[in-house]
Amino acid sequence: MFSSEIVSVGMYAPEKIVTNNDLEKLMDTNNEWIIQRTGIEARRWVDANTSTSDLALKAAEEAIAKAGIDKKEIDCILFATLSPDHDFPGAACFLQPKLGLSEIPSIDIRQQCTGFLYALSIADHFIRLGTYKTVLVVGAEVHSKGLDKTPRGRDVGVLFGDGAGAVILRQKELKDSKKDSHILSTSLYSQGEFAKELWVPAPGMANGADRMNNEMIAEGLHYPSMNGKKVFMHATRRMCECLLKELDKNNLKLEDIDLFLFHQANLRINQMIADELKIPQEKVFNTIQKYGNTTAATLPIGMYEAEKAGKLKKGMLVASAAFGSGFTWASSVYRW
Ligand code: UT7
Repeated sequence: MFSSEIVSVGMYAPEKIVTNNDLEKLMDTNNEWIIQRTGIEARRWVDANTSTSDLALKAAEEAIAKAGIDKKEIDCILFATLSPDHDFPGAACFLQPKLGLSEIPSIDIRQQCTGFLYALSIADHFIRLGTYKTVLVVGAEVHSKGLDKTPRGRDVGVLFGDGAGAVILRQKELKDSKKDSHILSTSLYSQGEFAKELWVPAPGMANGADRMNNEMIAEGLHYPSMNGKKVFMHATRRMCECLLKELDKNNLKLEDIDLFLFHQANLRINQMIADELKIPQEKVFNTIQKYGNTTAATLPIGMYEAEKAGKLKKGMLVASAAFGSGFTWASSVYRW
């Protein structure tokens, strides 16, 4: 039986920094409210000519270079995003030729904030089964082009940012399962009855005769809409729950984990999880202050920044959990 190892991580965030004060000018919000409720201080926005696959390309190129592999060794691309370049084909099909690759499978994963862990899990299974040896897993988002940047959209508009992260996953035969870097396990969940608590209604084939029309645009149905309190409540409960189950599955205790990397939807959610589970705050690494919520990109960005800050080192045992639209949630334990 094979295992898979995360051999490298890359990231890219657009240069343009948008502070809370910048948003004050657009959407009747203020720095104090955003910091107090979310912990976010700034986020990045792309320029008009940059798309999601462009961000993914830069993160992927860095991950490939750090892995020291020839990109032709990549057997499969898994691209987690809720903001693809176009409705179809998927963003992975646009990324593939930008990377100079051809013919390998290019798959989009549409699981929003949980997308990266879904993609990681699928890649891990492909590798364990021996189907593929080297998989590129990317999470990338361009939110800024899809937000309502007026007072009407302030509840959602202040939360999201643009960015990308990518990892190279490689097949490995474990010599010492207690010491070798590898993915110990992943678990995936969803509860579609809550699909409309955080969603973008249009365009959509369920919208009557037209998937999109002027009335829908006037109503702002093409912008994300969220029942924030409900999402917050479910996120804290489900992330605690799945994290504990994941540890249990591996006969591990919370104290065995060296670092917790959670999805970055709201700093207050992650602080509540740490309080609830009595995890020391210094064992939880957050990036939301700088980048906002980059949905599928938050976890690889977290890995990248934690490694750069010296908080994530080879051999460390890491636990991740994420929650988002769908509702979907997921968890994983891996040795870095
Ligand atoms: O990644 C996907 C998962 N997403 C999440 O997990 C997000 C979960 N939800 C949340 O993080 C929080 O619910 C929010 C940060 C989105 C909102 O915080 P909240 O404490 O639930 O605020 P609220 O929506 O109840 O709004 C409180 C007040 C309202 O005013 P009134 O009715 O009390 O007068 C809002 O109109 O804050 C107002 N408000 C704002 N004020 C300034 C809402 N958005 C803003 C804003 N700036 N941006």
